[in-house]
This record gives sequence, C-alpha cells and structure tokens, in this order.
Amino acid sequence: MAASDVADVLADLVTDATEHHYSPYTRFDWADTLAERQWWMSPELLSVAGTRYAEEWDEERLMRLSKWESINFFSLNIHGIRELLIEVTRRIHTPGFELPSEFFHRFLGEENGHMWFFAQFCLRYGDRIYPDKSLPVAGSEEDTEVDHFLVFARILIFEELVDHFNLRMGRDTTLHPLIREVNQVHHDDEWRHIVMGRKLVEHLYQPLRERADEALRARLDDYLRRYITASMQSLYNPAVYRDAGVADPYVLRKELLRDPARTRYHETFFKRITKFLVNQGIISHSPFDSVTA
Ligand SMILES: [Fe+2]
Ligand SMILES: [Fe+2]
Repeated sequence: MAASDVADVLADLVTDATEHHYSPYTRFDWADTLAERQWWMSPELLSVAGTRYAEEWDEERLMRLSKWESINFFSLNIHGIRELLIEVTRRIHTPGFELPSEFFHRFLGEENGHMWFFAQFCLRYGDRIYPDKSLPVAGSEEDTEVDHFLVFARILIFEELVDHFNLRMGRDTTLHPLIREVNQVHHDDEWRHIVMGRKLVEHLYQPLRERADEALRARLDDYLRRYITASMQSLYNPAVYRDAGVADPYVLRKELLRDPARTRYHETFFKRITKFLVNQGIISHSPFDSVTA
C-alpha cells in the first residue's frame, strides 16, 4: 500500500478509533437475566420472515425463535472475529502491510473487545455459543498474493453482513436496551473496519487483476460467490430451530432455504457488499441473481 490517499484514510481512521476508544469490560450494564418473552432480534431479520411461519406461529413462538437466532448471530460474530484476529495478526508488521499496521493495532484491540462482549451475551443469556460451521479458507500455500486478497475479502463480506443486522437492531426501539446497545456499539466500531476493508480489498486485488490470468479471476469470483452463499446459509442453523422447539429442524431449514420469499431478504443482507464487489470487477454477479454468468 503506497497511495497517499490510503495513508490519509488510515490516519483519519486511527484518529477516530483513538477518540472513540472505550473499555468493553465496563461499557455495558449486564442485566442478571433477560425475559424469555420479548423480541431478542428484530422480527424482519428472523430466518422465517416473509414465509408462512411468520404468519402461522404465534408471537410467543416467534419470540422464542428470536432468542436463539440472536444467540446464533452473536455466535457467528465470535467465530468470524476469531478468524480475522488470526489472519490480521499473521500479517501485522510484515512486508506489504507496513502502512495499515498502525490501524491493525486498533482493529485487533477492538475485535478482541467485540469477541468478549458477544461471548458474554451468549453465555449469560443463552448458556451456549453455537459451534462454527463456516467454509474453510480456500487459500493456496504458494500464492501469497491470492491468500492476502482472499483473507481480506472474506473479512469484508463477513463485516458487511453483520453490520446490516447491527445497524437495524441498534435502532430498533422494540428491543431490550442491552440488545440494542450491543448491536449499536458494534456498528460504531465496524464502520471504520469496513472503510479500511474496502481500501484493502481493492488494493490487494490490483496485482491479481494485472496478471491477466482469467482462470484465476474466475476461480476467485466463484469462490467468493460461494462464500457469500455459505454466509447466508449460516443464518439458518438447525441447532437454533431445535432450541426453539422445532420438531424437525433440518426439514424447516431446507424449506426456508428453498422459499422464494427469502430471496429478497438475502439480496438486502448482501446488497452493499455485492454492489462493491461487482463494481470492482471482483465478482461477475450477485450469487442471488437468477441468471448465472
Ligand atoms: Fe467486530
Ligand atoms: Fe470489525
């Protein structure tokens, strides 16, 4: 990274991160318990939104689902953060990452805090963290440029998806103040990571574009679209449906994933990131388009 505009953006982000620094350990007033019967997640973000289940299930049942979908959402955050902590730590202060290293220190500190408060929430109110089922990183041992690019592209996709949920729940006044606050505090840090992530992904893709290796570009396009699809599917967790009292969780998952009413939700969740990746020429089309390239 050498461009002076990148240096300016980074300097601004570091200043902002320093000004808004807080301790995650004292930031929240953790309630002893949270009532079961309330919305733990905004109803329009539930995996059944728009389907017949949202109509047929009574409010109590939907609220129960919202509790476990909220715990699942925070569990996904924990696993996503673990991956990015590992990958960013691997690269900080190494050749090629001189410029963002100062920002990486803020990023690593913030993400460690996020992982802590998400885990607190899951363990205090759900007594569990759902296990990680994510797609393995498809790097290539011998191609460092490809590895760097894929790692930061995955991080960006993950952070953009999460931010879609955080933004909405952070301002949903029907949610408990603590649930709202956890989402809001996360969003308040994440916008910096997303600004940086976009710069970094653009920058790391440039040498790959210049190779004029169409087979490689097609492989990356395909992988990232599959990664977006897998991220979407992680929102449909059979363990969640079981905890919410569904008798046949796998059947429900399959039915929901096949329901055409869900497509517009998927498009909305990933709208910002797919637009960015398509505009950069990194992916050929949204994985949710019915037409394949
Ligand atoms: Fe985070
Ligand atoms: Fe982040």
